Amino acid sequence: MLMSLRIVFIFLALVLALGGCQLDTGVKVIKMGHAQVVSHPVHQAMVFLGERLEEKSGGKLKVKVYPNQQLGTERELLELLQIGSLGMTKVSAASLEAFSPEISVLGLPYLFRDDAHITQVLEGEIGKELLLSTEKYWLRGLCFYDAGKRSFYSKTKPIATPEDLAGLKVRVQESKMAINMVRGMGGSPTPVSYGELYTALQQGIVDAAENNPPSFYNSRHYEVCKYYSIDEHTAIPDVVLVSTKVWSNLSPEEQVWLQEAADESAVYQTKLWKEAVEEALLEVQKAGVEISYPSKEPFLEKVAAVYAQVFQEQKQLEALVQRIQQTNK
Ligand code: GCU
Repeated sequence: MLMSLRIVFIFLALVLALGGCQLDTGVKVIKMGHAQVVSHPVHQAMVFLGERLEEKSGGKLKVKVYPNQQLGTERELLELLQIGSLGMTKVSAASLEAFSPEISVLGLPYLFRDDAHITQVLEGEIGKELLLSTEKYWLRGLCFYDAGKRSFYSKTKPIATPEDLAGLKVRVQESKMAINMVRGMGGSPTPVSYGELYTALQQGIVDAAENNPPSFYNSRHYEVCKYYSIDEHTAIPDVVLVSTKVWSNLSPEEQVWLQEAADESAVYQTKLWKEAVEEALLEVQKAGVEISYPSKEPFLEKVAAVYAQVFQEQKQLEALVQRIQQTNK
């Protein structure tokens, strides 16, 4: 009797833990977690993805979105996907570095010539390869979301040149590439998870950070950091992923619906993004943030040394960078 009760409990725990579970009604609900607040354009795009999926599947396939790092940091969310406890997530490509050395290439400073180049790379062969490069770790990339360009913000002063970073503890994502980038630019990189950053800035654990305008605004970091210097040093996209454990439990038809819904949500997100950048810059300015547009030259001068350091550690990235640079030249 005891034995059979134990088995029932284990079974129940597993059913509850499944990232994509089938309810009695035959409806499958895929759980999706992420780190942003609900006002952020990526959250709205994920909700749209769920709506498109529900429509395509006639209500048989749904997505339930858990925002705000409720289910864990980006790193933890990826680990939940790997064991199939969570079905889907959206993380920064920087958070995928540990699972795909190739993807870390996207964290190199000033990698792209312009916006058209970013689209050509991410929507072309290289983008497809990168999305599937984490599959061996049970993470299947479905599409990229636009995460714009990242720039420095600080509590104490504008970052007009890399020299202004000297002596500053700059928060970076939990990524080796981001550490190399900030160190190469002259700051002291300090990895902190996104959800803990507001407090870290407030308490002076870090003096500065870097991000795109909608994230700077939606995270309310602008309440603490009054200087935003638009140097646009990186253009690291976000990635929407599904656990391969959940993916392989979907029928071929359901897989097509999910892929289509993700692709459509990416188009929608790009539209939202442009407006969100303008709104964010306007709102932070209204809240007293000094926005400056430093010359990119002095930052670009640091790039060669950063690339050399990275290639020394990850030789295989050199060929990939060349392919990216040659894309649609
Ligand atoms: C961007 C990205 C997030 C990430 C954040 C960060 O906003 O979209 O996924 O968490 O950067 O700096 O950690």
